[in-house]
Parts: sequence; C-alpha cells; structure tokens
Amino acid sequence: MKTLGVVGAQWGDEGKGKVVDVLAAQADVVARYSGGNNAGHTLVMDGKKIITHLVPSGCAYKGTACVLGAGMVIDVDVLQDEVAGIQGHGLLRDDELKVSLDAHLIMPYHRELDGLREDSRIGAAKIGTTRRGIGPCYEAKAARRGIKVRDLFDPNTLRVRLEGNAAAVDAELLHLGASRGVDVDALLKSASGWARWLEPLVCDVGAVIDDAITDGKRVLFEGAQGALLDVDHGTYPYVTSTTTTAGGISAGLGIGPTKIRSVWGITKAYTTRVGAGPFPTRAEGEAEEQIRAAGGEFGATTGRPRDCGWLDLPALRFAARVNGLTGLCVTKLDVLAMLPEVMVCRAYRDGVTPGRDGFSRAQPIYETLSGWGDPALQSLLRAARSLSEIPTAVREYLDLIEQEVGVPVTLLGVGPDRTETISLADPF
Ligand code: IMP
Repeated sequence: MKTLGVVGAQWGDEGKGKVVDVLAAQADVVARYSGGNNAGHTLVMDGKKIITHLVPSGCAYKGTACVLGAGMVIDVDVLQDEVAGIQGHGLLRDDELKVSLDAHLIMPYHRELDGLREDSRIGAAKIGTTRRGIGPCYEAKAARRGIKVRDLFDPNTLRVRLEGNAAAVDAELLHLGASRGVDVDALLKSASGWARWLEPLVCDVGAVIDDAITDGKRVLFEGAQGALLDVDHGTYPYVTSTTTTAGGISAGLGIGPTKIRSVWGITKAYTTRVGAGPFPTRAEGEAEEQIRAAGGEFGATTGRPRDCGWLDLPALRFAARVNGLTGLCVTKLDVLAMLPEVMVCRAYRDGVTPGRDGFSRAQPIYETLSGWGDPALQSLLRAARSLSEIPTAVREYLDLIEQEVGVPVTLLGVGPDRTETISLADPF
C-alpha cells in the first residue's frame, strides 16, 4: 500500500503546503480530509506564490487528482475563486478535482455568525477564529441540520433545510446585531449556481480513494491546522472545530484506518501560533520580533501577525503520540539560522504535559544551543541539498529532535522554494 498522511504537529502553519507540494510530485492522488478555508497553504514555484485554502497542495502537478473529502467544510464561492486562480496558472483540469457529495457547505450565515460571535466575546472568551464560518458550519453538522454538497442537487430538501437553519439561527443573528436573518430565497438562487458549477466535480470520494489504493496508486492525505488545534486533543477551547490529527483521515475521507501506511508530522524548526490560547514557549520582546521578521510570520489566510517562539519538544512528543508519527519533516531551518541566539524547550517545570490540565501555566525549561548565530549559516543551509552539506550545529539540532521525540527526521526545509528541500526517506 502506497499511502502517507501528512499532518501538522504544532498549532498549524508548519509549512504543510510546501511539504505536500514537494511530496505530491510522487503522488497520484492528494486528498484533504478536514477543515475548510481557515487553512492557508503557500506554494512557491519558480518564485511564483500560490496560496490555497481548500484545494489540496497537489494542485501544482499535472495529472495529480486533488480530492476534497467528506470531513471538509466548503465555501463554494471561495472554492470557485481559488480554482479559477489555479487554472489561471495552467494547472488543475476539471477532471483532476474531486469533491465529496458528503462535505458540508459553509453558508453566508455561518460566516456572519462566526464574525459576530468573535466580536461579542470579551477577554479570555475570544478564540481568535479565522471568521470563515468554520465553527458554525461544523456545529450545524453535529446538530444534524447541516447542508451537504449533495443537498444542492435536491432543491426541495434544500429549501426545507435552509428554513430549518433560519429557524435555528435567526434569533442569534439578530441578537448579535445582524441587519436581517437568513434569506432563504437568495440562498436558493446562489445554490443553483453552485450546483451547476459543482456537478462535474462531485463523486463518492471514499470509493475513488479506495480504488486508487487497490490499484497501487500513491495517495497522500493532506492535513490542515495542527495537533494542538485538534478539537479533542488540542488546547480546548482554543482549537478549531475538527479532528486535525491522523485519526481524522479515515473518518474524513471514508476509508478504513488500515489503509494509512504511515504518517509524517510537520514541524517548524521553531513554533508559531495565531489566535488565542496557551503557547508556553512564546518568545519575549525582541526575540519574538526577530523570529517573526525572519520567518515572515503573518497568517496566509488572515494576514494576522503570528505569535512566535522556540521549538517545544514536549508538545512535539505529544503530537507524535496522538498521530502515531512515523516521520518528522522539519521546515524553516533557514529562518532559525538567521537568529542571533537559538533556544529549545526539552521539558516544562512541574512535569506538565500538553493536553493535560495546567498546560496554560506550563513553564518551559530552555537550553541555548551552541553553534548558531553565525551570519554564514543561512546561506550554507539554503545551498545544502544533502545531509552531509548541513552545518554541524543544525545536524546536532536534528539529532536532538529525533532523540527527544523518538521519531526519525524524514525531510528538511532549508528555504521557501520547493527545490530548497532535503529528502531523507522515501515517502511511499
Ligand atoms: P477557526 O478554525 O477559524 O474556527 O479558528 C479556531 C482557531 O484555530 C483559531 O485560533 C485560529 O487562529 C486557528 N486556526 C484555524 N486554522 C488555522 C490554520 O490553518 N493555521 C493556524 N491556525 C489556524
């Protein structure tokens, strides 16, 4: 079986877009299993940047099928714009894009609710969501009043469902300051356009992927967000509304868990977080500014400046456990190489563990690493294309990560371009 899951091992933004883009060169199918356009994956090809929010990062290759699974939530307007943008680069033929009939639709009132709720929250109650309607859409799904892609093809059912949703959310919308409730007629009109556009793309995604695996094709499962944003295992309530961890692959695509051969976790060489919630290894003052500036740490979806800090090895050990990681991809090593001083957290005081009570008060014990802070380090790293060309300080850092996390490092990111990558293991 030639299958590989690629998941975020931190709080999202680990560089999954680039890693999946690189690995997708060898894949026949790339499938996303959860989340929606809260994700933002940046691909850099020949200096050109493509940011995807819904379409899997495999879209950069001709002939690779890009699949959006049932576990996703889809804003069709956003998907249409994104596909038009990618097709403008001469990529992603219609027959290469497949959308699950069971994915749920983000409706305009989900977006509105998300924003109004965020505005109405005060202090620690703020989650810092991306305001894309993700939470309200998954909430409707769990409440069994969500609207699936398949409902677009049955206008009578769609009307009944929209009316049910209007009854459920109108009072809250108006209470939070919306000028009006759900406009069912206007939505039905939009929905007929969405149905026309989606019709050639929809299918039973689980069967398509299962057949591909049976035929010996190489299938990549692309995660969104990261382990610590998982709705069950992350820093709840400061999480997204889905299973971001590898357990979501099977549920979100409709294939059995025994079809996932291995799972690689992506981690930056340091840590970032966007939105509210605990972040024990956040750097202070100038050190944080230096990481943000060196790494260009601003959200690909919202443009928000990311909080930045040091690599958190206890959090990475946690991510390795909940995902059953078989490999680790370490990205943005070149960014760390630009900093005057590099620290790492091997443990917290009080023996606190991520995912357990007390994580928000965890106090990291730091070690300052030697051999970093050399102005030549970054250019040496960016030019490196094999492990033997990696400077000693960086190799020692990778050894430390492997030893502390107990998972082999399988891929390195030494610069933003897809060519600035060092592959250390066969993904399939
Ligand atoms: P939501 O997913 O928009 O509901 O946001 C919930 C939390 O997850 C917020 O803290 C967001 O900043 C965070 N989040 C959601 N998607 C991403 C992502 O792709 N990268 C990083 N953080 C994310």
